[in-house]
Amino acid sequence: MMRVNLTVNGSEEAVDEVWEGESLLYMLRERMGLPGSKNACEQGECGSCTVYLDGVPVCACLVAAGQAEGREVVTVEGLAQGPPGEERLDPVQEAFVEAGAVQCGFCTPGLIVQTHDLIERNPAPSDAEIREALAGNLCRCTGYEKILDAVRLAAERQAAAG
Ligand code: FES
Ligand code: FES
Repeated sequence: MMRVNLTVNGSEEAVDEVWEGESLLYMLRERMGLPGSKNACEQGECGSCTVYLDGVPVCACLVAAGQAEGREVVTVEGLAQGPPGEERLDPVQEAFVEAGAVQCGFCTPGLIVQTHDLIERNPAPSDAEIREALAGNLCRCTGYEKILDAVRLAAERQAAAG
């Protein structure tokens, strides 16, 4: 058992009784009340658990909780904007809802984090760049066309918002 100190969605946290080998995903979901990152495969294959770790998207199921010591994690919950209780969805989240890119929703949080990162790095991605960026995020439901629509819409919104 160990204690892990980290920053999550901007607040400093200390989590006790973390066991060796526990994943960052488990710690976020089961110990920190952040179920937004989904647990679908636990093998790094689906991307539904994607979070930012020091600003880089990673599969939280593949990161040991202890590796997050002293580091900064942002989950899909941390992308919502506005003060507690009055959060607004991030423009990327809105775009996914509007484009009809959310069916069962299991893949959505990971796609949103990944899309957020893509648009930050590349505000006007081509379809090929979108496909490449999202290649590690599996969706069983939507057939990806609507996801592409959502990413295009999110990029347009972001550009319009300056
Ligand atoms: S749950 Fe982490 S990649 Fe699937
Ligand atoms: S909406 Fe169901 S897996 Fe993508």
